[in-house]
Amino acid sequence: MTVRIRERSFGGVEAFSQNPGADIVDRRSFLSAGIALSGASALSAASYERVSGANERVGVGFIGFGLIGKRHVLDFKSQADADLVALAEVHRGRLDEGAALMGSDVKKHTDFRRLLDDRDVQGVVVSTPDHWHALMTMLACAAGKDVYVEKPLTLFVREGRWMSDVAQHTKRVVQVGTQQRSGRHYQRARQLIKEGHLGRIVSVRVEVARNIFPGFGSPRDQEPPAELDWDLWLGPAPKRPYNPNRAIYHFRWFWDYSGGQTTNWGAHSFDIVDWVISLDKLRGISSSGGRFCLQDNGETPDLQDALFEFDGWNAIWSMRECACGETPRFPLTFFGTKGSLGISRQGFKVTPDLDVPPASLIPQFVSHPIGGPLTVKASGQRRFRTEGFEDKSGDDRAQFVDHVRNFLDCVKSRKQPLSDLESAHRAVTACHLANLSLRLGRKLRWDAAREEIVGDAEAAKSLVRPYRQPWDRELKAMGVG
Ligand SMILES: NC(=O)c1ccc[n+]([C@@H]2O[C@H](COP(=O)([O-])OP(=O)(O)OC[C@H]3O[C@@H](n4cnc5c(N)ncnc54)[C@H](O)[C@@H]3O)[C@@H](O)[C@H]2O)c1
Repeated sequence: MTVRIRERSFGGVEAFSQNPGADIVDRRSFLSAGIALSGASALSAASYERVSGANERVGVGFIGFGLIGKRHVLDFKSQADADLVALAEVHRGRLDEGAALMGSDVKKHTDFRRLLDDRDVQGVVVSTPDHWHALMTMLACAAGKDVYVEKPLTLFVREGRWMSDVAQHTKRVVQVGTQQRSGRHYQRARQLIKEGHLGRIVSVRVEVARNIFPGFGSPRDQEPPAELDWDLWLGPAPKRPYNPNRAIYHFRWFWDYSGGQTTNWGAHSFDIVDWVISLDKLRGISSSGGRFCLQDNGETPDLQDALFEFDGWNAIWSMRECACGETPRFPLTFFGTKGSLGISRQGFKVTPDLDVPPASLIPQFVSHPIGGPLTVKASGQRRFRTEGFEDKSGDDRAQFVDHVRNFLDCVKSRKQPLSDLESAHRAVTACHLANLSLRLGRKLRWDAAREEIVGDAEAAKSLVRPYRQPWDRELKAMGVG
């Protein structure tokens, strides 16, 4: 896939912002006309970077002030070297609340493109619904900003490759909001597994279960609330009448904006799987399930099981929204030839396998009749194949703060952040493919090196989705899509 990215100089953006009614075509023609720029307005992304290095402070702009956007505002605010410069929100009440939390001289925008125009903003935090993540990240990169973008990275598979290419071409730092990687106990667990503490990993189990029956109701379509710019909320997603369940927070259960809980939670757990043992050899995906129990107007499954095949190991995903029982203690478990490691945000536990002669594990109720296998009794002290122990040091809150810190450090050092684009792309691709398999009702074969579905033209078409006008032109202007 070739990518031709047109970098947007701050000069172009500055001139553009004097004419807020201008659209992308104007911006493009402005840039391609090669108009000579002077002074600060002529700063390119690269020269801007030098300014940033000199003053050692990072101007941060936030796009989206919702459940997680608010968390990010607080966490960036706690960092002495972060200046909270601007907020873009399409919900007026949230814009005001967010700006009040950020500080008195914060610049407020409904249209995030005005925030991207701002030369005081060096880092952009994207906390919008999933269908905006890729486009906003790419536009921010093209405007010379570094980006902290929430998980799941994308709405469909191809977006991940576009993002990575744009970030690379524009030399931007992009941190993905899979903050579990910043958890010290996740780092310790990863090291243990990499050092072979569990032996060879043969299986991974990922699960999430809760009971939200009967769901969130089925409100009728209606006029959007006066304080919400619904068209700008929808952005590249298909035009639809406003429905409260499609909007704030509940967008998670609609295909136009999300991949349901499989991308919502799966993006976190599969991110850790990729970090520990890499998903780069994914070759087969089968999944089934459906929206069987919930009685609301949501669309994504309330029950889903998926099997992922790799070279020499399998991963399984199990998601239940209407049957919980005992909440799984560990949403993620690695099984190795010496023992297993279950991990959550609170801690992890290594359970060692018993080291006994295989023949002692052959069941015998009295004894086998003649011709049966020869069994032996395990003798002596119980021995284990590895050392078992528990770590309860996980700190959910610290993971967010440390992830923000890692981003700010990387903005200055220009190093790769902990949660890099390529890895997040692999993790969410696995989740998207599980959803595709479920929706098509068949197993998919995946060529991970070429990022293509093998031998299934219909499925392959779903790797990409169209953006709605005018956002399709924003995409094209960057030379991707
Ligand atoms: N890392 C984590 O642990 C974590 C936790 C929760 C949510 N998330 C992710 O964060 C994202 C947001 O989730 P949420 O629960 O905060 O949702 P939310 O609906 O509470 O907040 C999203 C906000 O984005 C705003 N928005 C939408 N379009 C916009 C636009 N064009 N410009 C500016 N603002 C816009 C909405 O008005 C809303 O206030 C999701 O992708 C979700 O998966 C991550």
